[in-house]
Amino acid sequence: MNIKLGPPVSDDNFYPRPELIGRILRALEHAHVAFLGPRRTGKTSCLRHILGTPPTGYVPILINLEQFDSVEAWLRAMLEQVRLELEKPGPKAPWLVEKSTNFLKRIEQITIAGSGLKLSPAAGKSAAWRAQADEFLGLLKETNAPVIFLLDEFPVFLNLVARKRGKEEVEALLNWFRAARQDLVNHAPRFLVTGSIGLKGVVRRLGLAPTINDFDTLEIPPLSDAEARDFLKTLARDNAVPLTAPGGRHILRLLGGPWPILLQLFVSEIREAQLKKAPTTAQLDRIYRDGLVGGPRNEYCAGMFTRLKDVFSPSECRLAQEILKALCRADAGLSREDFDSIHAKLVPLPEQRALHADELDYVLDALKHDGYLRQESEGEQRTHFASHILRDFWRRKTS
Ligand SMILES: Nc1ncnc2c1ncn2[C@@H]1O[C@H](COP(=O)(O)OP(=O)(O)O)[C@@H](O)[C@H]1O
Ligand SMILES: [Mg+2]
Repeated sequence: MNIKLGPPVSDDNFYPRPELIGRILRALEHAHVAFLGPRRTGKTSCLRHILGTPPTGYVPILINLEQFDSVEAWLRAMLEQVRLELEKPGPKAPWLVEKSTNFLKRIEQITIAGSGLKLSPAAGKSAAWRAQADEFLGLLKETNAPVIFLLDEFPVFLNLVARKRGKEEVEALLNWFRAARQDLVNHAPRFLVTGSIGLKGVVRRLGLAPTINDFDTLEIPPLSDAEARDFLKTLARDNAVPLTAPGGRHILRLLGGPWPILLQLFVSEIREAQLKKAPTTAQLDRIYRDGLVGGPRNEYCAGMFTRLKDVFSPSECRLAQEILKALCRADAGLSREDFDSIHAKLVPLPEQRALHADELDYVLDALKHDGYLRQESEGEQRTHFASHILRDFWRRKTS
């Protein structure tokens, strides 16, 4: 297992998550699935794992929707990938050969018709892609093809389509997609979408919330404590990085959130330190402070920091910064009232605040989905930083 920081991992570099993968596959047996969680938590890596070892008899298709800004591009990618997959040499599945000997041919026909598609007409007219989309759906249903579409970063795609083609196009897309899912729910084909930026928030902002509520939603969890300790041990051993078991436990205490990427970062920083012997607790503290929280190589925290400007409007960004600045110094976390008073301090006039009534909710929601915040589910439901490393990075940045 090599140290990998950032891009999705696969094969030997994928630390096995059998319980999580099992949950995803079980959910897919009965429903279409939304697999959600902040960026860099390991969603794409899980999809790659499913791609490599799909459930018996299933054909998995992985499509990254991040760059797509039209429904046509999405449909074309699905058709094209299905065709490529089925043309691969090897024993052919019965559903491909027996039930519909012309499956591939029909896919090709839809593809050819689809490749001539013009961009969608102006709002109000029915979408030009509709006929091809329905034909594709009909084919999937008729042949009961056991295909699992793994659609990565679905909400980013929705945002892009909204920006490029308008809200009506997203509405047509979401309505078609929901009808397709309902049509297929008692058939073999399955859709799984992932989202790093809060699928519900994106859809709610477009006023289209009911179009996704049939998804079985699964949030990606961090590693368990035992998994995290074993992952550290394996990663250190395979990369000749000295580390003891108590050292591993200390790392987990320091990070305060056992996400694979954070563990990778830590082991990579120990490697950089080029120690002859396993680091002591004091050395680990120093590596954490100077390498992870303050180090120039750590793009994770810096990236999270600069991202705020990209995802928020200037006024939302200011609110987010004030919230994070207060929160990184609040050992017991902050309550809803605390957030309200931060908002009130920034926008003192009640009339003005009322104009941006949902601003605070939106910012809190986005920070949660971005992996910054974690809210307790009980009691006062106080909110904390999702990991110590981000908290300590903010302390340092704003001191
Ligand atoms: N199962 C895993 N095994 C090893 N590293 C992982 C695993 N899952 C996530 N990672 C780490 O997290 C990083 C981001 O993973 P990725 O799958 O791209 O996340 P996401 O798709 O949620 O943004 C990887 O570069 C790797 O460092
Ligand atoms: Mg991803």
